[in-house]
Amino acid sequence: MARLSVDLCGLRMKNPTMLASGVLDETGKSMVAVAKAGAGAIVTKSVGREPRPGHGNPCVVELECGLLNAMGLPNPGIEAFAQEIREAKKAGVPIIGSVFGGSEDEMAGLTMAMQRAGADAVELNLSCPHARGYGTELGSTPEAVESVCRRAKQDLKVPLFAKLTPNTPSISALAVAAAHGGADGVVAINTLKGMAISTEARMPILANKVGGLSGPAIKPVGLRCVYEIYDSVEIPIIGVGGICSGRDALEYVMAGASAVQIGTAVWTEGPGVFSKVCREMLAFMEENGFKTVGELVGVAHAGGR
Ligand SMILES: Cc1cc2nc3c(=O)[nH]c(=O)nc-3n(C[C@H](O)[C@H](O)[C@H](O)COP(=O)(O)O)c2cc1C
Repeated sequence: MARLSVDLCGLRMKNPTMLASGVLDETGKSMVAVAKAGAGAIVTKSVGREPRPGHGNPCVVELECGLLNAMGLPNPGIEAFAQEIREAKKAGVPIIGSVFGGSEDEMAGLTMAMQRAGADAVELNLSCPHARGYGTELGSTPEAVESVCRRAKQDLKVPLFAKLTPNTPSISALAVAAAHGGADGVVAINTLKGMAISTEARMPILANKVGGLSGPAIKPVGLRCVYEIYDSVEIPIIGVGGICSGRDALEYVMAGASAVQIGTAVWTEGPGVFSKVCREMLAFMEENGFKTVGELVGVAHAGGR
């Protein structure tokens, strides 16, 4: 009998799927609902020190191949959000607190606040492509990534994940830096920087002009990033970008991911996507004689790790 349960840096997950930061994870209630629908773990919306309204509308464009968003990291601030974490914990699955900040000190403070609020792990958002001052400033160079991870990890007891940007010449260099800085895992990828233009209005559609592309269009990029990172680091990789089916999730696992996150497909299909992905993964494993997800991690690399 095949089983989907995984242990990710000590987080016990009933399956390797996680809700990605940014979709249906702004409130405790919505996180509980997504967990009930089958997600193995939940990543919260990225939270900062102070409340932030985010960018003006339009902040999302639906494209044939995915979504383009420039939400601008709207959130109520960590103090208010702690209550949502406490509510989300009722779901009985690991809750990973995502944080963003403008400096290493701010990131470290938020990381500790997430731990105090009860988060089972913390994800550093080092990769938002459309929030000036809070986006990739701390995540664009290996030096910055290593330093922010080291500072955030200093007094942290729960696992630390670094979410990396694909908008870089070498994502594996960023992953190596995160590992050197003490991150327990890396998350790849955040959205790709993009744009949509209204020919009628002759102007960019997003109020912020540029945004982050997600969904099926970015799956080949995410896969390539995970594949490259797997050759460079020993810490677990969490794959994300365009996953809509069990086959998509399995591609990420075979590229080297120990777990996967789903964002846009939750927006387009609803939270039922989690049980569908899990059902399809399990069917593939049973048909092909795999007993655990771990047996499949990285198998697309000739000769393994
Ligand atoms: C509407 C929306 C909001 C997002 N907000 C965040 C965020 O707050 N923090 C973050 O790290 N990533 C955020 N993301 C990026 C996703 O977590 C994910 O990395 C990306 O969308 C690729 O996965 P997907 O193709 O499954 O959506 C957001 C994505 C979308 C579509």
